Amino acid sequence: MVILAQAKTLPFEISQDTKGINEETRMRYRYLDLRSERMLSHLVIRHKVIKFIRDYLDKEGFLEIETPYITKATPEGARDYLIPARLHPGMFYALPQSPQQFKQLLMVAGIEKYFQIARCFRDEDPRGDRQPEFTQLDLEMSFVAQNDILELYETLLIKMHRELFPEKKITKVPFPRIPYAEAIEKYKTDKPDLRKDKSDSDELAFTWIIDWPMFSYDKKEKRWDPHHHIFTRPLDEDVLLLDKDPSQVRSWQHDLVLNGFEIAGGSLRTTDPVVQEKVLELVGISKIVARERFGHMLEAFEYGVPPHGGIAHGLDRFCMILTNEDSIREVIAFPKTGDGRDLMMDAPSTIDDSQLKELNIIIKSPLKK
Ligand code: AMO
Repeated sequence: MVILAQAKTLPFEISQDTKGINEETRMRYRYLDLRSERMLSHLVIRHKVIKFIRDYLDKEGFLEIETPYITKATPEGARDYLIPARLHPGMFYALPQSPQQFKQLLMVAGIEKYFQIARCFRDEDPRGDRQPEFTQLDLEMSFVAQNDILELYETLLIKMHRELFPEKKITKVPFPRIPYAEAIEKYKTDKPDLRKDKSDSDELAFTWIIDWPMFSYDKKEKRWDPHHHIFTRPLDEDVLLLDKDPSQVRSWQHDLVLNGFEIAGGSLRTTDPVVQEKVLELVGISKIVARERFGHMLEAFEYGVPPHGGIAHGLDRFCMILTNEDSIREVIAFPKTGDGRDLMMDAPSTIDDSQLKELNIIIKSPLKK
C-alpha cells in the first residue's frame, strides 16, 4: 500500500449532509464541506443549468461574449466595488454591477443576439438571497418586442425543466403575465408566490410581472428613481407624461418571479436621445454629469442604434430554489458571509505598506494589528 497523502482528524464529520454543522466552520473549511454529497450535488446542478443555457442559446444563434470586469461604474442602484488605478494616481476603476452598458454597446456593434454567463459585483449588505458577487445569465437582442424576450426565455426554462428536473411540476404554462399594479392590488407584493401549495418545494410557479412604473419618488433625495435602471424604455403612450406626471409613466420592464423570489429582470431600452435626456433629467443627472458618466453610450447611439432589449437571470437564486435551499450560499462553491468575509481565504485583509504606497493610498485610521 502506498500512502499518497496523510489526513489530520477532520474539523467536522463529512456526512451526506453537513447542514447541521456551524456554517462559519463549514465556510472556513469549504474544501471539506464540498466533499459532502449534498454540496457536490449542488455544484452538479449548477453545472448542468449553465451547460443547458449555453447549448440552448448557441442553437438559437446567440454569441457568448465576455465583457470587462475592470471598468467604469455601471448603475444598477447598488454601491460599486472600486479598484485604485496604479498607473493613474487618484483614479479608480469600478467592478461592473452588471454588463448592462457593454451589452447595449454590443447591439450598436451589430451583434444581434448576445449572451454571457457573467459575474456581477455589488457592494450591498449580503442576505440569504444576495451576495456581493453573483452570477447572471445576461442576454440582449436587437429588433425585438418585449414578447420575443419573454417567449424565448420561457421556452428555454420549460425545455430545461423537461430535461434537467422533470420530477418538479410547473404550476402554469404559459407563465402568467401580471401587470405590476394588479400584483400589488391582489397580492400586496411585486413577487407573489403563486404555488398552489406553498409548502411544496417541487412546485415551480413562474410568473412574469410587466407594466412596471418607470420611477418611484425618493422623498429624502427629492428626486425620481428609476424602478429598473436609467436605460429602460418608457411605454410609448406614456412618454408625454414624463413632463406632466412621472409617477404615471409605465415602462417596458419585465421581471420573472419564481415561488416568491425575483429570479430575473430586464427591459426594452431607450434609444431615443430626447427621451433618454428627459429620463436622466428626472433622476437628477444633469447634462454635464450624463456626458461624464454615460458619454460613451450617448455618443455610440449617435451612430445608429437598433431597437433592443434583454434580460438577466440570477443563477444563484434559481439554483437555490431548484435545490430546495434557503440561502444562495448553499449553491455557490466559495461564498461570502453575511458581513462580506471569505473565511477560508481570510479576505478582506490588510495589505503591505509598499503596496499602499504604490497605489498612492494613505489609510486614515489604520487597524490595530
Ligand atoms: P437586476 O439588477 O434586476 O438587472 O438583476 C437581475 C437578477 O440578478 C439577481 N441578483 C442577485 N443575485 C444575487 N445576489 C445579488 N446581490 C443580486 N442582485 C441581483 C436577481 C435579479 O433578478 N442589467 C440588468 C438586467 C437587464 O436590464 O437586462 C440587471 O442586472 O435574480
